Amino acid sequence: MKNITTKKGYQYPMYVLGHLSPRSDVYSFGVVLLEIVTGRKSLDKSRPARERNLTDWAVPLLREKKKLINIVDPKLEGNYPIKDVNKAAMLAYHCLNRNPKARPLMRDIVASLEPLQEEK
Ligand SMILES: *[C@@H]1O[C@H](CO)[C@@H](O)[C@H](O)[C@H]1NC(C)=O
Repeated sequence: MKNITTKKGYQYPMYVLGHLSPRSDVYSFGVVLLEIVTGRKSLDKSRPARERNLTDWAVPLLREKKKLINIVDPKLEGNYPIKDVNKAAMLAYHCLNRNPKARPLMRDIVASLEPLQEEK
């Protein structure tokens, strides 16, 4: 989960795609996506109580662009296209829907990530 982007080479979409397989569980993928975006572990006991469980803490913040900026991995130092981060956040939000039937299909996830990769 380190060094997912560099000053010159923005590698994040490819990195995310590397975690996908047709058999991937969509919910688990949402957790991985959240880990990538925030730079946090899914469970981090060193955090304050309300931040320990990454999904509980981050999911309500994903849809609010102003709050989203605050939860993005500080190691990225703002060095990312904000619209890509928004897109990844919305994708994670949908993958983590409590209702499994409301989650996207893996092929839809791939289809939404591929354009990000091609931009670079
Ligand atoms: C975080 O909480 C959710 C319930 O809101 C639970 O399903 C999930 O397993 C928890 N994650 C971890 C890593 O414990």
